[in-house]
Amino acid sequence: MVDYSGKISYRSQSLKPSEIREILTLTEGKNIISLAGGLPGPEVFPKQQLADIAKRVLEDLGDNALQYSPTLGVTPFRNAVASFALSKGVKVNEDDRVAVTTGSQEAIYLIGLSLIDPGDNIIVEAPTYLAALNAFRFFGANFISIPLDEDGMKVEMIEREIKKAKDSGKKIKAIYTVATSHNPTGVIMSDDRRKQLIEIANKYDILVIE
Ligand SMILES: Cc1ncc(COP(=O)(O)O)c(C=O)c1O
Repeated sequence: MVDYSGKISYRSQSLKPSEIREILTLTEGKNIISLAGGLPGPEVFPKQQLADIAKRVLEDLGDNALQYSPTLGVTPFRNAVASFALSKGVKVNEDDRVAVTTGSQEAIYLIGLSLIDPGDNIIVEAPTYLAALNAFRFFGANFISIPLDEDGMKVEMIEREIKKAKDSGKKIKAIYTVATSHNPTGVIMSDDRRKQLIEIANKYDILVIE
């Protein structure tokens, strides 16, 4: 086997495998229930619907469905996402406001690439989604942790942290929140907290990554 260990980039050497993922690898295909990482119940996978949709797309859209697409994603799909967001009151009326990614981690890596400089601070819930922390860390981000209760992140604590950070010359780039079905607590952030969060983010010009 070729030994690539001497060729791994300095940056990639900083990546650590997630213990949870490692346990998933050990239990894959075996008759073992892993309690380390949550897995969706296969009984809720919409297999037949997806098979029907795939058949319809290939038959009706054929070449278009299989052809290269714009980098941001297939335009009719991006338009559908924009309409869905609009139906929930989120204004995405400019074409370039929607980009399709493979899961949240690709999105967070792209966000990191474009926005995060080493030493930038990100406000996160404590605890939060491990994979997101790893992705932010890859770009040299530091974290400011805010605890949660049954209404989600205690957003009233954010303002104090922002002032503290400013006083010590720290730059806060973004607030990362899993506002709905938080990992690992399952908590859903209350509407009041969501409004408060947006107000604080606007007041201090800090991005929100949800
Ligand atoms: C908060 C959160 N986002 C996203 C995902 C899905 O994974 P990925 O980050 O690859 O999209 C999970 C899965 O556990 C999650 O807990």
